[in-house]
Amino acid sequence: MRALSGVQPSGKIHIGNYFGAIRQYVRMQDEHEGFFFIANYHALTTIRDPEDMRRQTLDLAADYLALGLDPQKATVFVQSDIPEVCELSWILSTVTPMGLLERCHAYKDKVAQGIPADHGLFAYPVLMAADILIYDSHLVPVGQDQKQHVEVTRDIGERFNNTYGETLVIPEPYILESTAVVPGIDGRKMSKSYDNTIPIFDPEKATRKRIMSIVTDSTPVEGAKDPEKCSVFQLYSLFASEQQRAEMAERYRAGGMGYGDAKKELFEAFMAQFGEARKRREELAANLDYVRDVLHKGAEHARAVARTTLDRCRAACGVDI
Ligand code: ADP
Ligand code: TRP
Repeated sequence: MRALSGVQPSGKIHIGNYFGAIRQYVRMQDEHEGFFFIANYHALTTIRDPEDMRRQTLDLAADYLALGLDPQKATVFVQSDIPEVCELSWILSTVTPMGLLERCHAYKDKVAQGIPADHGLFAYPVLMAADILIYDSHLVPVGQDQKQHVEVTRDIGERFNNTYGETLVIPEPYILESTAVVPGIDGRKMSKSYDNTIPIFDPEKATRKRIMSIVTDSTPVEGAKDPEKCSVFQLYSLFASEQQRAEMAERYRAGGMGYGDAKKELFEAFMAQFGEARKRREELAANLDYVRDVLHKGAEHARAVARTTLDRCRAACGVDI
């Protein structure tokens, strides 16, 4: 089976991205044929500075590798190295009803935040469908917020197949219930666009500060606390074993432990989990030529697969004479 997913190079990678998506990529590369990319065409809807775009694209590639994607096992590449995706995106847009796109949360939310709606933002899910369908992907590991986009992809793929005959593989979202929505330091969903993230590769001091500033209620140290209502506990649970989690829950309920202590334990758990990756990340930062080389090789492989699917689609709809 082929597993495919991508992240936009739109800011610092954070623990929501890791537990919601990238950890699944790393696990899947062993059992599946993994295709993992950097969605820079999608990020064009928000990043307008070419230098930021280049740097953040390369940074995200280094993040992927530091977090455990292995170019010997998976294909790691940049979206814009596969221009076939844009051609398929056009073809798919001709079987995509306007209403389907008008219902997409990501578009509606951005418009609500006052981000001016251009066509790229509106057509974003069609490009995402092209990303997924062009590699005959079976599984798409993502966090909860991307579920709707994968459903739109299925819908578009089915419409193409119904119109032109069985051509495209219809994918399934792959979402882990326990990590589908990681909370941010303000209790809302962790997201680059809310400035409430805990980045994975910030300097230690900044990470500590971030964790210490997680918003909690005002129960005093002595008071019994409800772990289920606390973001610190929810975040700690991501790193902890079942036993550590139960012990921490017990300390919450017993009273006598301040939120500050729970935050310190969360910080320790964060460092234990990401210590190795942070070291690797520094080594990669000093060796960006290696990162570029991985991306070039990944693109060559991905492009060959994309070409075959695109040719099949061109033939199916008769734009191949
Ligand atoms: P952001 O919202 O920070 O911009 P992206 O949209 O780039 O994140 O998401 C990249 C991947 O990480 C997607 O698969 C997305 O579902 C996942 N993801 C992002 N934030 C979270 C979160 N808070 N919890 C779980 N998964 C998340
Ligand atoms: N829209 C996704 C996000 O913001 C990124 C993305 C683009 C993607 N194309 C994709 C994810 C294809 C999975 C599959 O997170």
